[in-house]
Amino acid sequence: MLVMDEKEKMSDSVTGSRVLIFYYSFSSQTRGIVSQLSAGIEVGGDHIVCEKIEPLVPLRFPIGTIPSTLRMMITTLFRRPSVPIKPLSDVCFDSYDLIVLAGPTWSYNPSGPVLSLIQRDGPVLFSGRKVIPLISCRGYWWLHLYGLRRLLKVCGATVPNCIVFSHPSSEPWRTVGVFLKLAGKMPEKSCIGRYYPKYGHSRQQQREAFRFGGLISDALKRDSPLSGLNFRTPIALP
Ligand SMILES: Cc1cc2nc3c(=O)[nH]c(=O)nc-3n(C[C@H](O)[C@H](O)[C@H](O)COP(=O)(O)O)c2cc1C
Repeated sequence: MLVMDEKEKMSDSVTGSRVLIFYYSFSSQTRGIVSQLSAGIEVGGDHIVCEKIEPLVPLRFPIGTIPSTLRMMITTLFRRPSVPIKPLSDVCFDSYDLIVLAGPTWSYNPSGPVLSLIQRDGPVLFSGRKVIPLISCRGYWWLHLYGLRRLLKVCGATVPNCIVFSHPSSEPWRTVGVFLKLAGKMPEKSCIGRYYPKYGHSRQQQREAFRFGGLISDALKRDSPLSGLNFRTPIALP
């Protein structure tokens, strides 16, 4: 599943497990991880439907300036303003063996579009379902995960596990680099470039996401508990 915008309608004749992945991605980092995760699940013979969560008014990356980046970070800290999203495709309301809900951390919270999805459609989508949150972040994800898990449980979901990928660069360059990148600068090519060679996730992390997809597929096939899978590896969380 490498073309993320396409929604595949599954045929009734399929025998593998059925997995639905929702994702929002502002700067393509979650998108890259989800692309590999779904490819890994598909290799195992399972069937994926991937639904991109799309804001009604597209959000532009990079944000562009330092003041507007600061403004977005502060407003998202208070989960304001909400980001209205487009309606989901009908196929999202079918029945699945597993749902993955993927998106970035925004100021210690889930991103606005993911919050909008939960607020608008959460009880219908997640009630009685197994949901694995997938987080892409710079490095600070505990509060995000805690809050997201709580919101999903309120919707009636079971959350057997979670997947977190944090950027592999070291601090303080990671924080400075992300901020500059969001503001539309090129930190990799600036004076901090020798400490901050790249924004976002590494190729090695994408391969790890592919491997995680295989683990999920295996567990679904064997009907073994998803809670037993180890996603907290030094590659995902360096
Ligand atoms: C408004 C905003 C706030 C952010 N706040 C955090 C944060 O609190 N903790 C963190 O680890 N990363 C934070 N980040 C960085 C993103 O989570 C990170 O770059 C992620 O990989 C982006 O994924 P995406 O490209 O799929 O949107 C923030 C990014 C934005 C745009």
